Amino acid sequence: MELGQRVSTCVLLLLCVTLSTNGGNILVWYTEGSHWINMKPVLDKLIDRGHRVTVLVPSVSMYMNRNEASRFHYESFNVSFSMEAMEKYFEEFLHFSMYEMDQMNYLQIYIRFTEMMKTELHFSFKYLDGVVKSDTTMKKLKEGKYDLLLADPLYFGSDLTAEILNVPLVFSLRFSFAHNWERHCGQLPAPPSFVPAAMSKLTDQMDFSERLWNFLFYALHDVVLDNIYWKVLDKYYSEIKGTPTSACETMSRADIWLMRTYWDFDFPRPFLPNFKFVGGIHCRPAKPLPEDMEEFVQSSGDDGIVVFTLGSLINNITTEKANVIASALAQIPQKVLWRYGGEKPEALGANTRIYDWIPQNDLLGHPKTRVFITHGGTNGIYEAIYHGVPMVGIPMFADQPENMVHMKSKGAAVIVDLKSMKAEDLRHAVNTVINTKT
Ligand SMILES: *[C@@H]1O[C@H](CO)[C@@H](O)[C@H](O)[C@H]1NC(C)=O
Ligand SMILES: *[C@@H]1O[C@H](CO)[C@@H](O)[C@H](O)[C@H]1NC(C)=O
Repeated sequence: MELGQRVSTCVLLLLCVTLSTNGGNILVWYTEGSHWINMKPVLDKLIDRGHRVTVLVPSVSMYMNRNEASRFHYESFNVSFSMEAMEKYFEEFLHFSMYEMDQMNYLQIYIRFTEMMKTELHFSFKYLDGVVKSDTTMKKLKEGKYDLLLADPLYFGSDLTAEILNVPLVFSLRFSFAHNWERHCGQLPAPPSFVPAAMSKLTDQMDFSERLWNFLFYALHDVVLDNIYWKVLDKYYSEIKGTPTSACETMSRADIWLMRTYWDFDFPRPFLPNFKFVGGIHCRPAKPLPEDMEEFVQSSGDDGIVVFTLGSLINNITTEKANVIASALAQIPQKVLWRYGGEKPEALGANTRIYDWIPQNDLLGHPKTRVFITHGGTNGIYEAIYHGVPMVGIPMFADQPENMVHMKSKGAAVIVDLKSMKAEDLRHAVNTVINTKT
């Protein structure tokens, strides 16, 4: 054969090999709440690209549903607690974060938080028992011949399972709450001089006392976690593996950490090559609205609309608060679409409509949308960034206050405090966002 012919034969052969390559066989770790909502579009994309996706689903879950029509495969496992127990814990946690916390001093918060964390650990262990301590489940997972485990580390043990199955591990996380896995185990550098600690509500611009506070925050996290988290995890991991094992070290073997933030949301910080910042990965162009909703939106004229939701976990607030909010919104010229599960507030204005559910992304992508009133969950914030909609934040708990601090410091949001808020404050905040050209 001539050289040219040989080359083209090689290319042809190579093409055949490439064309016949099958997608990967991906196992997805169980998760809950907004973590699962965030994961789903990523899994859809993986399927679009020819991968096979199997999701591990516990027999008790508030958000994951095996019967849901989707293109995922499911592998279910049994857990030994009831849905009621899980819901009770969620409610307690919400109540603590929303109402109890601001009537407590630091010591009381610390003690209560430690208790809650122990309960969360209890659930996490029960979940993990259902996987690694169940011969049936482990047998199925081994027979599944997975190429990769993709996990949101919200519930721990995915690293242990990946090690037992001998498959590569990819983490996908927003940030690890107080756990600081990425810093502690993933060795992601976090100089306290300019990288604010999780939950500190600081920005990258800190004066001396704030830096000192930030430094103490990191130290406090480490002490708390060593005492109530890593100790018990190490014990569990060691028991399963039959040899002394460090959970943090097991976690550190993750091949890639997909961090669900980006520089539009986060502050500059040092990072490592196996940390990829993928914030906004779930964002998509808007689809048309349902007909009656579109009609309402169009009726707003040049004033446009306000989209308002406090997230998937909060369905009702106190009647008093609902009325404060309703009366504030009644005074603005925009039309308001409010996702709210509680009773209809008396002060509700003619310009405001209440919905059980709204197509949030489609509304944020609508050209008439002027402002997004949000609790400050990362999913919603990213949709707003993606569609270029400024925000009014009413953060409540977990990472929400901190998320809104980020958006405020980037000039994309105004924050109001739910507890002390008067109708005038909310109205003023909405008007500021709409009328300030920055
Ligand atoms: C879960 O429990 C049910 C009923 O006890 C049983 O039939 C099933 O095999 C169990 N599944 C696994 C994965 O162990
Ligand atoms: C929310 O609704 C539930 C019942 O649906 C009720 O028990 C609870 O008290 C309500 N919470 C508030 C803050 O109104």
